[in-house]
Amino acid sequence: MSMDRLSRLLSDDGTPRIGFGGDYNPEQWDPSVWAEDVALMKEAGVNLVSVGIFSWALLEPTEGVYEFGWLDDVLELLHNAGIRVDLANASASPPPWLSHAYPESLPVTRSGVRLGYGSRQAFCASSADYRRAAAALTRKIVDRYASHPAVVMWHVHNEYGCHNQPCYCEVSGRAFQVWLAAKYGTIDAVNAAWGTAFWSQHYSSFREITPPRQSGASVNTCQVLDFARFSSDELLDCFRAEAAIIRDGSSHPVTTNFMGFSMGLDKPIDYWKWSEEMDIVSNDHYLIAADPRGYQELAMTADFLRGLAGGEPWMLMEHSTSAVNWQPRNRAKAPGEMLRNTMQHVARGADAALFFQWRASVAGTEKFHSAMLPHGGVSTARWREVVELGRSLQAISEVVGSRVTPPSVAIIHDTDARWGNELSDHPSVDVDVIAETRRWHSALLSTGVTSDIRRSIDEVSRYDVVIVPVQYLITQDGIDNLTGYVEQGGALIVTYFSGIVDEDDHLHLGSYPGAFAELLGVSMEEFFPLLAEEQVELTRFGFGRVFSEYGTVTTAEVLAEYAGGATAGSPAVTRRSFGTGVAYYVGTSLDRAGMLELLEQVGGGGRIVSAPGASDDVEIVSRSAGDRSWVFVINHGTQAAEVAIVGVELLSGRTVDGSLRVEAGQVAVVRVDAS
Ligand code: GLA
Repeated sequence: MSMDRLSRLLSDDGTPRIGFGGDYNPEQWDPSVWAEDVALMKEAGVNLVSVGIFSWALLEPTEGVYEFGWLDDVLELLHNAGIRVDLANASASPPPWLSHAYPESLPVTRSGVRLGYGSRQAFCASSADYRRAAAALTRKIVDRYASHPAVVMWHVHNEYGCHNQPCYCEVSGRAFQVWLAAKYGTIDAVNAAWGTAFWSQHYSSFREITPPRQSGASVNTCQVLDFARFSSDELLDCFRAEAAIIRDGSSHPVTTNFMGFSMGLDKPIDYWKWSEEMDIVSNDHYLIAADPRGYQELAMTADFLRGLAGGEPWMLMEHSTSAVNWQPRNRAKAPGEMLRNTMQHVARGADAALFFQWRASVAGTEKFHSAMLPHGGVSTARWREVVELGRSLQAISEVVGSRVTPPSVAIIHDTDARWGNELSDHPSVDVDVIAETRRWHSALLSTGVTSDIRRSIDEVSRYDVVIVPVQYLITQDGIDNLTGYVEQGGALIVTYFSGIVDEDDHLHLGSYPGAFAELLGVSMEEFFPLLAEEQVELTRFGFGRVFSEYGTVTTAEVLAEYAGGATAGSPAVTRRSFGTGVAYYVGTSLDRAGMLELLEQVGGGGRIVSAPGASDDVEIVSRSAGDRSWVFVINHGTQAAEVAIVGVELLSGRTVDGSLRVEAGQVAVVRVDAS
């Protein structure tokens, strides 16, 4: 709802508009540049900018002394130009004075190194000094700007957990003990959950427990998992405290920018939990330049964000107009690529598309990062594309508030299952939740099937097919939910290395895949992961990679066996009817052709309806509202595409009376009215 409200606030007459703009860091420039900034923003159709994200040191140059004059001027300029502001509370980058005054506020790594300042996010989430200073700054900013007419939303912090967590310092250690006491109640319960009888790790009191610091051998995996959960919660407490101050003084929506699938066990943030605290769910997304089909990962991330937003419109807070600065090789985007990227996000539910950043920096580590206004200024192809993008978003602004047409397929993604799979000492380092999820998501994408991303405990009965890729960790609630789904007619596909442990990382005993074995009707005895480049032939569905197993079926029917190698004769793909539904097991990582063949079998009878014209290169997604829908056709390939459709193409204004041609690299958005 807040997103709908925000989009109305972006225009002077209140008509909904797609948010368009970026991070605006005027403090990096002489004030004489600001008027030009604002004039060029108008030229590009910018309607929303994020201001002040990294301004703490300038807003509070010494403790308790505030200087808001420059920010007053910037907001005034923006307001006079009708550009709305997503105002930051500036808590993301503590200034040097804070690190000097409170050296214990600096974070400590797993191996005990206290990090320095001089970059950003140099604080420990449990530091009372950091928290007090961030709260004081937030209060000042809210008091001063809550009723400023330019401000329409609040940007708390920035990309929580990107650079500073988990923190392994003494203060964090004590906070971890408190967190554990609240979770478990007694030290005996911790010992039981952590399996401390192993390797003589039994604890006599909470005071003996430390963060899972670097040790001679692998550290207790349940301790590591709980520490990840704790670390996410500590930062969430920081967010909550700052958001509460803002909400106390303002009714504008509050957000913080997420980072898609970046938050693994090394940077643990549980976005499912965090999203419940957001008025608007927002995300930052950057393509990996070395990934030739990065748009597939973009599509999957956008679908994840829609899941986090509960299906509601969400906000793309940052993406890049072209190259970034932080990859090994930072390549510029090809002509048209930026438009395709932005349109993918909008097609998948974003009602705002902003960039990092407005004007390319002259100094600092991000000086080679692209921006809306490049170093070369307005006589550049990039600037012309930015202006064109602003026009294109204006042309399709009627999609605002609509929802992605409800998908019939869901893919399960649980934070704990991903973190659990990333724990040490597993059968294979190649078992990767994100990679396997992408294989299934991309296979569906190539047939024009949009999938939702949901949790194992979510209500999934409305989906015709539910895919469960590498669900290493599953709770009893998750198993019960998915079992009930099959019993009542659903089609479930579960992959290898699923159902292995419970929430404490204790094995579900019996045959593999543990908690799923009975539902799937299979009984696997031993894992036989494949070597890095190895593949194993199957009797059907092509080849398997990554994983294979020895075992048999109990109640399932075998659809394919391993045709050769050490696991020859063991079931690779199985099917079991249960209740009025069906449960499939896929014990290996299928290649694309095999996956599509299986999906065709599972999706028969109308369970999965593909979009004619879609392919690995041609993405087709639709949003709808009432009797109207908008079909986005995004051609990532080098050949023109033809799609059968009737409606009005909004970017060109042309009527399409049966066949739409989308040139290589181009995008079309067709309004279709049900007649
Ligand atoms: C993140 C940050 C931005 C900027 C970009 C660069 O998304 O939020 O401040 O550093 O990365 O890609």
